[in-house]
Amino acid sequence: MRGRRSGRKRIICACAGALLVGVALLAPGAGTGSTEPAYEGQKKCGSCHRSERRSWAKTVHARALDSLKAGAELEAKRKVGLDPAKDYSSDRNCIGCHVTGFGKEGGYDPADPGIYLVGVGCESCHGPGSRYKLLHREAAEKFEKTGQPTPRQALANAGQEFGFLDRCNACHMNYEGSPWKGTRKPFTPFSPQVDPKYRFDFDKAVRNDAAMHEHFRLEGVFTGPPLPPFHKDFQAKARPVAKESGE
Ligand code: HEC
Ligand code: HEC
Ligand code: HEC
Ligand code: HEC
Repeated sequence: MRGRRSGRKRIICACAGALLVGVALLAPGAGTGSTEPAYEGQKKCGSCHRSERRSWAKTVHARALDSLKAGAELEAKRKVGLDPAKDYSSDRNCIGCHVTGFGKEGGYDPADPGIYLVGVGCESCHGPGSRYKLLHREAAEKFEKTGQPTPRQALANAGQEFGFLDRCNACHMNYEGSPWKGTRKPFTPFSPQVDPKYRFDFDKAVRNDAAMHEHFRLEGVFTGPPLPPFHKDFQAKARPVAKESGE
């Protein structure tokens, strides 16, 4: 028993050096050492994905916090009995669906509102990015040097979202009497009972580039599952990434 243990220990010791190097490399982005990935804010994502960022910046998602301000969206607010003269932009019953990562590690905090977490940002849909953003860089370097793609599964394991549906539902289907199983207070005041125009049709909504962002051609740094069913369609009509001048 003892002999076997110490035999195994030697093997563990041999790996420990390599393991430590791995941990040290991961440490900066791994954040505070908690097990959940943290929110990063759209500045990080946007510095590498400028075309998507520029397109996203024009969407209602990017401006979602503005709708909570006093004087904005008067008619809509009156219709659901909200006070149009009131500022709801730090109201905890509202902001969870109008900012990025409210109440989560690294996410929006009304006491210290980071501008890169304002609105429904990249990570509201793609998942908190502290871990997978490191893989994007590493995989891109590997791809450049060797031409070898990296399995997408590694991204999913690091917290990147590929299904999307439940993330959208958490904001769009979270109302009293919703057929969605994950509902939890606070609810959105703008449910289909108020007006059928607030009904959420995922398959249609996710194809609405004006509300999400335009799609740009991927080079193939990542490969294999998991992929959403609409990925192929999006890439088939995707534009090349804009060559940067300024910004
Ligand atoms: C250091 C630069 C860098 C950062 C930071 C970065 N990415 Fe990426 N990302 C890349 C590269 C490079 C690819 C591979 C693109 C390709 O295949 O053409 C990629 C791929 C992606 C993809 C497509 C994955 C697939 O299915 O093939 C998504 C979505 C994405 N990034 C979102 C994000 C989000 C959201 C953030 C912020 C949390 C982020 N990225 C941060 C460089 C980065
Ligand atoms: C963090 C909450 C949140 C998430 C996640 C989210 N949305 Fe939204 N979405 C909103 C809010 C809030 C608005 C309205 C913004 C405004 O007018 O202030 C909106 C607006 C929209 C609109 C335009 C209005 C409409 O209904 O036609 C579409 C389309 C949409 N979202 C689709 C999606 C899809 C598809 C997903 C998932 C891939 C998604 N959203 C994820 C909160 C969210
Ligand atoms: C559970 C998520 C959620 C909460 C909580 C929430 N909202 Fe929203 N809000 C949404 C979504 C999703 C939309 C987009 C609805 C659509 O257009 O289909 C939206 C849209 C809006 C709009 C635009 C409506 C329109 O017709 O253009 C206003 C204004 C708004 N919300 C204000 C508020 C206020 C004020 C609160 C708090 C009292 C609040 N929201 C709480 C999810 C939420
Ligand atoms: C409302 C949801 C939503 C938001 C917000 C959002 N995305 Fe996306 N994004 C998507 C969906 C859906 C896809 C399609 C995924 C696929 O084709 O596999 C996508 C695809 C991508 C891709 C792959 C290439 C492409 O253009 O299709 C990149 C890169 C990306 N997003 C980056 C970003 C960045 C950076 C931000 C923030 C500035 C952002 N996204 C905000 C939903 C969103």
